[in-house]
Amino acid sequence: MDTRTGVTRREFLRRSLITAAGLATGVSAATVSSEQTSSSESLRLVFATDIHLMQNDALRSEEGLAAAVEAIRALQPRPDLMVCGGDLTDPSPNLNYPAANKLLNRFLGIWTRLHPIETHYVFGNHDFVGTKNPLVSRYDSRFGKGLFEKRLGLPRLYYSFEKRGWRFIILDDVCLNPEGDYYAEYKADQLDFVQSELKAHKEKPTVLVNHIPTFSVFGKLVGFARFVATDFKRRPSLVSRNGQNLANVIRNSGANVKLVLAGHLHHQERLEIDGVSYLNGGAICGNWWKGPMMGCPEGFNVIDLRSDGSFKIAYKTYGWRAG
Ligand SMILES: [Fe+2]
Repeated sequence: MDTRTGVTRREFLRRSLITAAGLATGVSAATVSSEQTSSSESLRLVFATDIHLMQNDALRSEEGLAAAVEAIRALQPRPDLMVCGGDLTDPSPNLNYPAANKLLNRFLGIWTRLHPIETHYVFGNHDFVGTKNPLVSRYDSRFGKGLFEKRLGLPRLYYSFEKRGWRFIILDDVCLNPEGDYYAEYKADQLDFVQSELKAHKEKPTVLVNHIPTFSVFGKLVGFARFVATDFKRRPSLVSRNGQNLANVIRNSGANVKLVLAGHLHHQERLEIDGVSYLNGGAICGNWWKGPMMGCPEGFNVIDLRSDGSFKIAYKTYGWRAG
């Protein structure tokens, strides 16, 4: 039971299903029925996002991450692929380089227990290093997105790959303004990249992933004032400034895009728009390791992607109790 909301986990999951159905705007009957009936070979994807590992194991975040990793390792069937949706660590924008590197080491030391399941990483706003710390050099190659790119071996934060007939396009929609604040936007180079990828692989079922959602109604659902007490200080940081531009690229491509995954809001939400499922996933850390996020428990998404292009989404909690 979440004592603040009076909602049990089982009830939360049931309501999520109802909410998802209620929010459907254009979901195709074909998609729904194929989710129920397909038995073709699956690719099991785990989308785990918003870990927010704290320094010095504050709020038992290391223990929590380890518990989530064990729950993922125990899944049957075993995952074929992990996508980590960003915000690996929490305080990195305020840290200097050695401290941020040390914390990222702590994260990777636990996360790599998932080996040999391959992981692809998405950049989150908490993965910036030094952007809120006036004492660190802005000219160091580790500044901003640099340390994340170096440590994870990513020459570019938007890229694509293919696995068992499914295409994956990882995007980076987290932008930095001169004051060191972040906002979300699809820049022209990434929209061009998506367009060319979709044109080149038009028939393949495709999943796009980014950190900050393309669309969300969650802010309206709970009231913006509720966000002010959390991590979200300004509206442009909640969802993309130009989500419609990405939706237009997808629609105009005529490609076989199935899913657009995001994290950031720490709350499970699914919108169906023009036959594409926009899934904003609940967080590994819940409400920054202080319990469920407005009724959404700590967890991750298990997504079975079938060779016929159908898929099934299940949000799994891992039994974490904050405090
Ligand atoms: Fe986050």
